[in-house]
Amino acid sequence: MCGIIGYLGKKQALPILISGLRRMEYRGYDSYGFCVFNKDKEPFIHKKIGKISRSEELSNLTVEGTTGIGHTRWSTTGAVTNENAHPHFDCDKNIFLVHNGIIENYKELKEKLISKGHKFTSETDTEVLCHLVEENYNGSLEEALRKILKDIRGTYGIALMSKKEPQKIVAARLSSPMILGVGQNELLVASDPSAIITHTRQVITLDDNEVAVLKPEDFFILKEKPMVSIDWTPEDAQKKGYEHFMLKEIMEGPETIENAIRGRLIPDEGTVRLGGLDSVRNRLNKINRIVLVACGTAGYASKIGKYMLEEYAGILSEAEIGSEFRYRKPIIDKNTAAVFVSQSGETADTLAGIGELKKKDILTLGITNVVGSTQARETDAGIYTRSGPEIAVASTKVFLGQIATLAMLSVYLGRQRNMSLVMGKRIVSELARVPELAKQILENKEQIKAIAEKYKDFKNFWFIGRKYNFPIALEGALKLKEISYLHAEGGASGELKHGPLALVDENFPTIAVCPSDSVYDKMILGVEEVKVRKGPVLAIATEGNERIKEIVDDVIYIPKTLEMLTPMLSVIPLHLFAYYIAIALDRDVDKPRNLAKSVTVE
Ligand code: G6P
Repeated sequence: MCGIIGYLGKKQALPILISGLRRMEYRGYDSYGFCVFNKDKEPFIHKKIGKISRSEELSNLTVEGTTGIGHTRWSTTGAVTNENAHPHFDCDKNIFLVHNGIIENYKELKEKLISKGHKFTSETDTEVLCHLVEENYNGSLEEALRKILKDIRGTYGIALMSKKEPQKIVAARLSSPMILGVGQNELLVASDPSAIITHTRQVITLDDNEVAVLKPEDFFILKEKPMVSIDWTPEDAQKKGYEHFMLKEIMEGPETIENAIRGRLIPDEGTVRLGGLDSVRNRLNKINRIVLVACGTAGYASKIGKYMLEEYAGILSEAEIGSEFRYRKPIIDKNTAAVFVSQSGETADTLAGIGELKKKDILTLGITNVVGSTQARETDAGIYTRSGPEIAVASTKVFLGQIATLAMLSVYLGRQRNMSLVMGKRIVSELARVPELAKQILENKEQIKAIAEKYKDFKNFWFIGRKYNFPIALEGALKLKEISYLHAEGGASGELKHGPLALVDENFPTIAVCPSDSVYDKMILGVEEVKVRKGPVLAIATEGNERIKEIVDDVIYIPKTLEMLTPMLSVIPLHLFAYYIAIALDRDVDKPRNLAKSVTVE
């Protein structure tokens, strides 16, 4: 959701802000803007609707100035207009501010400010912050900010500057990511490492309620904090010759699984080494229930995790979406562990439950991709998926990393309980083979592309699966709808006859995920029900199953593996299918309309 960058140093700020915003555009892309103090300490402001990556006029903009802030927006409060784009400013145009998040009590604050004579120029919640700072400014920007933060309800990542202190940027956060980048003679702030990684890999993560002050060759945060090094390179966040990040990331699936399992499998002992869980090993030994909490694609990985944990670790498990979990009153006792699954580690609905559970002394674990993210810091312990940066809005490769991690967690907890050595060895050795099997599917991408082109003119799709592949049907449908804007639904194939079958005719294709597993025969019953009603069927089936060709219209084959690990293979053709349909329909696959990569607001 939205991206923030700030620069203070000796170089020209404008090109640094523009390239940082372009790198962060996947977080929000309906408008953009920046403010740079020029050499006369006057603000140069540019705000525009549209995508910064597509803006040609920027090459004609010049301003000499070495301090500035920028923002790329995914609108929440206020329509997509030039006025509502950030930075926002106060009445006298002294204070310039960019903001991620939502100020929940902005209406009452705005009314008060208007009654005091403040003039607003936008419809946003953000603008109240500028006027509040103006009201409270007494010569120190950070002091004014500290004062107003007490009156604000909501979430924020903020960076601001004042004309009265042109050599300073102040930043703060609450439940919204914000890092400080420390380079040679330069300081940066950003909501996302990708924005600053070409300048420095040394970062400090701001904590909630902290205010950071950046001044030339000096910075100040109240607490002494360790500097961490970002372990991915700028090239990792580039397209590496692929037309889109999404395709690049799907193609990185095998190495994503490899990275998740590297150094963690202990084949001889039929178990896994998960260093991030060492500190809570004994507590984990005692739990008898797991609640997995996640949103979107991570939510589907969690559903697969639930099946694995119940079948192989023998632990009662549930998978819940974050937005529901946070507002119902779940019954959770001290024998339960809550596992939060999130690529970004910043999804507001996923994070919402952590603090509450910790207060009640419930063990919280995180499965996260982003080192130092809020989720990683706030959970008691966790496992990194180590998938590298994921830039396309729709998550693909990290989904594979999450499933691999959940499989390892199932082995870890299973071996603490009743899982036999033989079973542990079987899962671990098969897990090691999965990257190679995934590569074989990707070698067939041209065939999948041809099939996608055949199906691209249908307007409605139904995805079905059973057991471990039921969540894969949900994920296949989600991916197709979010990037192609076609209508797609996913469900359990056993539910077909309870309603969805009414929709099936020759214009309503079904994508059936039916590998040769324990529920294959049942899946085929569902497929036949569709075929009898003339519905076209594309099947994802296991290599060697020639008979299925007699039943369905098209088949994409995947290699054989253990049933519990099949989702890491069966989802790859569905990701490619969605990608190629979206390309055929000329959609913006990396930045689908109305969506954002990381949903840091409710
Ligand atoms: C957004 C993304 C999805 C992602 C979801 C959860 O909706 O578009 O691809 O699955 O957020 O994100 P998280 O970072 O928590 O995994």
